[in-house]
Amino acid sequence: MKIGLFPGSFDPVTNGHLDIINRAKELFDRLIVAVAVNDSKTSTAMFTLRERQKLLKEVCKGIPRVEIICFDGLLLDAVKKYKAVSVVRGLRAISDFEYEFQMAMMNREITSDYDTIFLMASHSYSFVSSRMIKELVRFGGDVSPFVPPAVVREMKKHRNIRTKVK
Ligand code: PNS
Repeated sequence: MKIGLFPGSFDPVTNGHLDIINRAKELFDRLIVAVAVNDSKTSTAMFTLRERQKLLKEVCKGIPRVEIICFDGLLLDAVKKYKAVSVVRGLRAISDFEYEFQMAMMNREITSDYDTIFLMASHSYSFVSSRMIKELVRFGGDVSPFVPPAVVREMKKHRNIRTKVK
Protein backbone atom coordinates (compact mmCIF):
# COMPACT_ATOMS: atom_id res chain seq x y z
CA MET A 1 0.00 0.00 0.00
CA LYS A 2 1.46 3.36 -1.08
CA ILE A 3 0.80 6.00 1.57
CA GLY A 4 1.27 9.74 1.08
CA LEU A 5 1.31 12.32 3.85
CA PHE A 6 0.19 15.91 3.30
CA PRO A 7 1.27 17.99 6.31
CA GLY A 8 0.32 21.57 7.04
CA SER A 9 -1.02 24.01 9.59
CA PHE A 10 -4.47 24.10 7.94
CA ASP A 11 -5.46 27.06 10.13
CA PRO A 12 -7.97 26.87 8.54
CA VAL A 13 -8.28 24.50 5.57
CA THR A 14 -8.88 26.44 2.33
CA ASN A 15 -10.22 25.52 -1.11
CA GLY A 16 -6.57 25.51 -2.21
CA HIS A 17 -5.76 22.77 0.32
CA LEU A 18 -8.82 20.79 -0.82
CA ASP A 19 -7.64 21.02 -4.41
CA ILE A 20 -4.23 19.57 -3.41
CA ILE A 21 -5.92 16.82 -1.32
CA ASN A 22 -8.15 15.79 -4.25
CA ARG A 23 -5.23 15.69 -6.68
CA ALA A 24 -2.72 14.07 -4.27
CA LYS A 25 -5.09 11.24 -3.35
CA GLU A 26 -4.91 10.04 -6.97
CA LEU A 27 -1.17 9.43 -6.54
CA PHE A 28 -1.45 7.13 -3.52
CA ASP A 29 -3.53 4.24 -2.20
CA ARG A 30 -4.11 6.26 0.95
CA LEU A 31 -3.50 9.93 1.72
CA ILE A 32 -2.95 11.07 5.29
CA VAL A 33 -3.64 14.74 5.84
CA ALA A 34 -1.59 15.69 8.89
CA VAL A 35 -2.42 18.80 10.89
CA ALA A 36 0.77 20.03 12.52
CA VAL A 37 2.34 22.87 14.45
CA ASN A 38 4.29 25.44 12.48
CA ASP A 39 6.38 27.12 15.17
CA SER A 40 6.55 30.39 13.26
CA LYS A 41 2.75 30.69 13.07
CA THR A 42 1.68 29.95 16.66
CA SER A 43 1.08 33.59 17.58
CA THR A 44 -1.41 34.03 14.72
CA ALA A 45 -3.30 30.75 15.24
CA MET A 46 -7.08 30.96 15.09
CA PHE A 47 -7.95 27.28 15.71
CA THR A 48 -6.44 24.59 17.94
CA LEU A 49 -4.97 21.49 16.30
CA ARG A 50 -8.06 19.48 17.28
CA GLU A 51 -10.42 22.12 15.86
CA ARG A 52 -8.49 22.14 12.58
CA GLN A 53 -8.61 18.35 12.44
CA LYS A 54 -12.35 18.37 13.11
CA LEU A 55 -12.96 20.92 10.36
CA LEU A 56 -10.83 18.96 7.90
CA LYS A 57 -12.74 15.79 8.74
CA GLU A 58 -16.01 17.58 8.07
CA VAL A 59 -14.97 19.04 4.71
CA CYS A 60 -13.21 15.84 3.53
CA LYS A 61 -16.09 13.56 4.55
CA GLY A 62 -16.97 12.54 1.00
CA ILE A 63 -13.40 12.07 -0.23
CA PRO A 64 -12.37 8.39 -0.35
CA ARG A 65 -9.00 7.03 0.92
CA VAL A 66 -8.23 10.21 2.85
CA GLU A 67 -7.59 10.19 6.60
CA ILE A 68 -7.09 13.21 8.85
CA ILE A 69 -4.68 13.04 11.77
CA CYS A 70 -2.80 15.57 13.87
CA PHE A 71 0.65 15.55 15.45
CA ASP A 72 2.74 18.01 17.43
CA GLY A 73 6.22 16.54 16.91
CA LEU A 74 8.57 16.34 13.97
CA LEU A 75 7.28 15.75 10.46
CA LEU A 76 9.77 12.97 9.87
CA ASP A 77 8.53 11.10 12.95
CA ALA A 78 4.97 11.31 11.60
CA VAL A 79 6.19 10.03 8.21
CA LYS A 80 7.78 7.04 9.95
CA LYS A 81 4.78 6.40 12.19
CA TYR A 82 2.31 6.34 9.29
CA LYS A 83 4.71 4.50 6.94
CA ALA A 84 4.39 7.18 4.25
CA VAL A 85 6.57 6.89 1.15
CA SER A 86 6.18 10.56 0.22
CA VAL A 87 5.32 13.92 1.72
CA VAL A 88 3.10 16.13 -0.42
CA ARG A 89 3.29 19.92 -0.37
CA GLY A 90 1.53 22.51 -2.49
CA LEU A 91 3.48 25.26 -4.21
CA ARG A 92 1.72 28.49 -5.09
CA ALA A 93 4.32 30.98 -6.17
CA ILE A 94 8.06 31.26 -6.35
CA SER A 95 7.90 32.88 -2.90
CA ASP A 96 6.85 29.49 -1.43
CA PHE A 97 9.84 27.78 -2.95
CA GLU A 98 12.64 28.92 -0.66
CA TYR A 99 10.89 27.78 2.51
CA GLU A 100 9.78 24.50 0.93
CA PHE A 101 13.25 23.84 -0.43
CA GLN A 102 14.85 24.42 2.98
CA MET A 103 12.33 22.24 4.78
CA ALA A 104 12.58 19.37 2.28
CA MET A 105 16.39 19.47 2.23
CA MET A 106 16.67 19.72 6.01
CA ASN A 107 14.41 16.71 6.47
CA ARG A 108 16.23 14.82 3.72
CA GLU A 109 19.55 15.48 5.39
CA ILE A 110 18.23 13.81 8.55
CA THR A 111 16.47 10.93 6.82
CA SER A 112 16.41 9.83 3.20
CA ASP A 113 13.53 7.45 3.84
CA TYR A 114 11.01 9.52 1.87
CA ASP A 115 10.73 12.08 -0.90
CA THR A 116 8.81 15.33 -0.96
CA ILE A 117 6.45 15.78 -3.91
CA PHE A 118 5.33 19.27 -4.86
CA LEU A 119 2.02 19.91 -6.58
CA MET A 120 1.57 23.27 -8.25
CA ALA A 121 -1.51 25.05 -6.97
CA SER A 122 -4.29 25.32 -9.52
CA HIS A 123 -4.42 28.77 -11.06
CA SER A 124 -7.64 29.77 -9.28
CA TYR A 125 -6.10 29.05 -5.86
CA SER A 126 -2.59 30.34 -6.47
CA PHE A 127 -3.18 33.42 -4.29
CA VAL A 128 -5.23 31.84 -1.47
CA SER A 129 -3.54 31.57 1.94
CA SER A 130 -4.87 30.79 5.42
CA ARG A 131 -3.05 33.85 6.74
CA MET A 132 -4.92 36.23 4.43
CA ILE A 133 -8.22 34.45 5.05
CA LYS A 134 -7.81 35.01 8.81
CA GLU A 135 -7.00 38.65 8.27
CA LEU A 136 -10.04 39.10 6.02
CA VAL A 137 -12.34 37.53 8.60
CA ARG A 138 -10.93 39.55 11.51
CA PHE A 139 -11.76 42.73 9.61
CA GLY A 140 -15.21 41.54 8.59
CA GLY A 141 -14.45 40.51 4.98
CA ASP A 142 -16.26 37.79 3.03
CA VAL A 143 -14.13 34.65 2.74
CA SER A 144 -16.78 32.38 1.21
CA PRO A 145 -15.10 32.28 -2.24
CA PHE A 146 -11.91 30.86 -0.72
CA VAL A 147 -12.94 28.33 1.94
CA PRO A 148 -15.63 25.62 2.33
CA PRO A 149 -18.93 26.71 3.97
CA ALA A 150 -18.10 24.85 7.23
CA VAL A 151 -14.98 26.98 7.58
CA VAL A 152 -16.93 30.20 6.99
CA ARG A 153 -19.30 29.09 9.77
CA GLU A 154 -16.52 28.32 12.28
CA MET A 155 -14.49 31.40 11.42
CA LYS A 156 -17.43 33.64 12.21
CA LYS A 157 -17.46 32.16 15.73
CA HIS A 158 -13.68 32.51 16.15
CA ARG A 159 -12.99 35.85 14.55
CA ASN A 160 -12.28 37.66 17.80
CA ILE A 161 -10.60 34.80 19.62
CA ARG A 162 -6.92 34.02 19.53
CA THR A 163 -6.50 30.41 20.56
CA LYS A 164 -3.57 28.42 21.84
CA VAL A 165 -2.06 25.99 19.37
CA LYS A 166 -2.48 22.74 21.31
O1 PNS B 1 1.02 24.85 6.31
P1 PNS B 1 2.42 25.16 6.78
O2 PNS B 1 2.39 26.09 7.98
O3 PNS B 1 3.31 25.68 5.70
O4 PNS B 1 3.04 23.76 7.27
C1 PNS B 1 4.34 23.70 7.82
C2 PNS B 1 4.53 22.38 8.57
C3 PNS B 1 3.50 22.23 9.66
C4 PNS B 1 4.43 21.21 7.60
C5 PNS B 1 5.97 22.41 9.21
O5 PNS B 1 6.10 23.49 10.06
C6 PNS B 1 6.29 21.11 9.96
O6 PNS B 1 6.69 20.14 9.36
N1 PNS B 1 6.10 21.12 11.29
C7 PNS B 1 6.36 19.96 12.14
C8 PNS B 1 7.66 20.17 12.93
C9 PNS B 1 8.88 19.89 12.08
O7 PNS B 1 9.12 18.80 11.62
N2 PNS B 1 9.65 20.97 11.87
C10 PNS B 1 10.91 20.90 11.14
C11 PNS B 1 10.73 21.30 9.71
S1 PNS B 1 12.31 21.23 8.91
